[in-house]
Amino acid sequence: MIPELSKPSVIMRDRQRVEEMIQSMHRAGPGGLQVISDFDMTLTRFAYNGQRCPTSHNILDNSKLISEDCKKSLKELLNKYYPIEIDSSRTVEEKLPHMVEWWTKAHNLLIQQKIRKDLLAQVVQESEAMLRDGYKEFFDHLRDLNVPLLIFSAGLGDVVEEVVRQKGLFHSNVRVFSNYMDFDENGILRAFKGQLIHTYNKREGALLNEAHFHELKDRHNVLLLGDSLGDLTMADGVQNVENVLKIGYLNDKVEERKESYLASYDIVLERDETMDLANAILRHVS
Ligand code: TMP
Ligand code: MG
Repeated sequence: MIPELSKPSVIMRDRQRVEEMIQSMHRAGPGGLQVISDFDMTLTRFAYNGQRCPTSHNILDNSKLISEDCKKSLKELLNKYYPIEIDSSRTVEEKLPHMVEWWTKAHNLLIQQKIRKDLLAQVVQESEAMLRDGYKEFFDHLRDLNVPLLIFSAGLGDVVEEVVRQKGLFHSNVRVFSNYMDFDENGILRAFKGQLIHTYNKREGALLNEAHFHELKDRHNVLLLGDSLGDLTMADGVQNVENVLKIGYLNDKVEERKESYLASYDIVLERDETMDLANAILRHVS
């Protein structure tokens, strides 16, 4: 049905179930579909030529807007908390307080840097932000089909938006839920807006945005793309769900985490730096 399902990087615990869901989504057509995608390491690449690619946080952290001391502190936080984020031997409940701590400390460090809003675009331009191969087809096809794309990110909303805007992809069907910066009247970062979103509280973030999902209440099929087990709850706010086809990028600690990814994602993409499968599914559904 979809040749891309047979790529060596594509693994599934129940291929038949996946094919049934895709068939059902095909019958309902693009008018019944909405797409919810994580940003960092899902729409963006994990690695390129053996080098890790930056997250939205890293784009800012590595920039000239951050002092050397602060860079060091942010790096220490990453080294301490990222292994916890991806540790398959701990439960989500065990990870939660650590994630809140990481995000709170990182946001506070950024606030201390008095970041200027008017320099963000330049910082993104000079960064090594990299979207996955096939990203343009993905965004453009969703626009052409009039299918809403929700980018749901625990990263930095202002940076995510700027990356998408600079690639010319911020079409009218795209919305972003994320952590947004609050600037003072001089355009200097003074706080973050709203409730903090971290890797493992996307369910709460989704439920807070009821109005968005209400608007899309006639779209019963969801294509969900993520790279963390925390991303699985991004569709929890969707109303009248029929199918949620969950695609998970397994980028890091592949052997260790494969079993848990296969148990919770319908399709697991192992070290796959492309949007090929999502694009193939969208072609089939349309
Ligand atoms: P995502 O929800 O768009 O994937 O964004 C969350 C990622 O951001 C998560 O994988 C960890 C990463 N992150 C950093 O790289 N640096 C930081 O300081 C923080 C708080 C998170
Ligand atoms: Mg991610």
